[in-house]
Amino acid sequence: MNNRLITIAIDGFSSCGKSTMAKELARRIGYIYIDSGAMYRAVTLYCLDNNLIENGEVHRNALAAAMDNIAITFMTNPSTGRQETYLNGVCVEQEIRSMRVSQSVSLVSQIDFVREALVAQQRALGQAKGIVMDGRDIGTAVFPDAELKIYVTASARVRAERRAAEMNDADIYAIERNIIMRDEMDMTRQISPLRKADDAIELDNSHMTIDEQNAWLEARYNETLERLNKQ
Ligand code: DC
Repeated sequence: MNNRLITIAIDGFSSCGKSTMAKELARRIGYIYIDSGAMYRAVTLYCLDNNLIENGEVHRNALAAAMDNIAITFMTNPSTGRQETYLNGVCVEQEIRSMRVSQSVSLVSQIDFVREALVAQQRALGQAKGIVMDGRDIGTAVFPDAELKIYVTASARVRAERRAAEMNDADIYAIERNIIMRDEMDMTRQISPLRKADDAIELDNSHMTIDEQNAWLEARYNETLERLNKQ
């Protein structure tokens, strides 16, 4: 009985390859894939484009008033087969990955009402199960009852090297510093900090290839179905 739908939560540090493995599993098993980080990035882009961030501070009241005007949706690009993020109907997939957004996203993702709004949307997307969602608080806050939870780690140096290769950027040290800073902010923020859920399975993929990590995740998915079918 492999058609039972479950919820799969994949949390971990930035640039640790979570989304690569999450996307691939979703494709193979026909699940919806949601990149929750893209949603925080889209809100951050909205703030930057509307001058709601100045001197490293977010104008909280103005953002609170604007939250109802921020619509985030996902659509699959028919020519690439890849899922893309839309902000108020405009594709922002490239822009939300820029350094400008990466540098401000931790400020926005620590705001209580932003998290409440996005968590509500994430839960609505996962209502029917059959979903793989990656982020920081998916197994702890968004879907605490997820049947399969994974917590991914990799050393900051390995993550910086992977990021640099992706971005064609030789300044590994600057990237590593940004990664360490974001790890720190993600783990120490007051609301829903990054932490391993008690029932999550930890994966350190520092020394794994993409194929190895995909195979590892699929094995955990199959084990989970077997366990549930025995209950
Ligand atoms: O995974 P990412 O680097 O695209 O995430 C961007 C930022 O959003 C990151 O600084 C942490 C934050 N984030 C979060 O707070 N909660 C999530 N569920 C996902 C991302």
